[in-house]
Amino acid sequence: MAGKSPLGVGLIGCGMIGQVHAAGLGQLVEDGDVRAVAAADLSEEARNNANRNARGFARLHEDAQAVIDDPEVEAVLISSPTATHRDLLLAVLEAGKPVLCEKPLAPTFPVVREMHDAVVASGVAAQVGFHSRFHFLFNKMRDLVQSGELGAPMGYVLREDQYWPTGDVVPGHSSWRSDRKQAGGGALLEHTIHGADVASWLFGPARQVFGRTRSLFGYDVEDVAAATVEHESGVIGTFVTVFNGVRGREERRLEVFFERGAVELTADFVVGAPEDGLMIQRPDEPAEHVDLDALRAAHWKTLGLTRTDVLFYLYLGARAWVQSVRAGTAPSPSFGDALAAHALVEAAYRSAASGDPVTLDGDLSLP
Ligand SMILES: NC(=O)c1ccc[n+]([C@@H]2O[C@H](COP(=O)([O-])OP(=O)(O)OC[C@H]3O[C@@H](n4cnc5c(N)ncnc54)[C@H](O)[C@@H]3O)[C@@H](O)[C@H]2O)c1
Repeated sequence: MAGKSPLGVGLIGCGMIGQVHAAGLGQLVEDGDVRAVAAADLSEEARNNANRNARGFARLHEDAQAVIDDPEVEAVLISSPTATHRDLLLAVLEAGKPVLCEKPLAPTFPVVREMHDAVVASGVAAQVGFHSRFHFLFNKMRDLVQSGELGAPMGYVLREDQYWPTGDVVPGHSSWRSDRKQAGGGALLEHTIHGADVASWLFGPARQVFGRTRSLFGYDVEDVAAATVEHESGVIGTFVTVFNGVRGREERRLEVFFERGAVELTADFVVGAPEDGLMIQRPDEPAEHVDLDALRAAHWKTLGLTRTDVLFYLYLGARAWVQSVRAGTAPSPSFGDALAAHALVEAAYRSAASGDPVTLDGDLSLP
């Protein structure tokens, strides 16, 4: 962004995804958008890894508050474990600094609402780490929904699965994801909060949810969940999410049925993933298998992105956040968007516990 000095960014949490964020911040430094001012992690090894990936933060700390208090840190990216987000977010809001907080916002819905309300009350510019919104395939699906080209969306099937992401299964991985107190939930909250956000983004907020969960691997969070969702728009759909035992597997698939079309989207989290695919079936025509490279290039052109070395959509999310902070515009996806996604997931959990469908109020409060 010409004519403005780069934004001083601080990173809190340098674990698995913090290191990916650090690499993205390093690219944003190269782009002239960011100064990598400070990073914090309890682990020295994690700090050093993030520092290497970012190609140098000016300062490294054990204490997150040192990042928040650093006068050269103008905006803070929180990528520590979910249970730490609340206190860190409130401290960043107290400092009045723009923030990007990773998903899920918190292990429990009341804390999510508290965080949402605190952001709104503070007036601080705040974004949530729903990076699927920066994936060219989901953007194409949104264009198809919004343009009406295939008629109205009728229903959808969304399936997400991933190899069980916890240290007991994956050597070297941290283990908080399989502990309910720290994670709040399993496949549905930790992973499919992304799918809940995508569905809310495409079809509007959920009105009623019926859910079921199972825990086959023996942890106290679910590794399988299914939900039937009715959106306020009338669109209905089903979710299936799985933390599986199939090493090497990770995929998100969304099939949307329109009045005059069927669209099958398959995606993964890395740019250029072999899983990626998009099929559009129109009436009386052969199915179109969309040229992915051309579609991605066209989308990135609209973003003014010239880099050819982007590996993760997280970079695009952080880039959008930095650009909106520097431009003084509201970052998106917002904490209001996150509240909608969390409300859908919470309704599924409550339904699974009670055996009855759960209806959401218009203001996303839950009974
Ligand atoms: N947007 C996405 O697609 C995406 C992907 C993966 C993870 N996440 C989310 O990002 C968060 C982090 O996940 P992860 O897989 O990197 O976890 P992780 O366990 O690999 O890393 C977390 C790091 O935070 C550090 N930490 C803990 N408490 C801290 C504190 N108070 N101050 C500073 N550092 C602290 C830990 O030492 C660790 O290095 C989670 O909320 C997770 O759900 C989002």
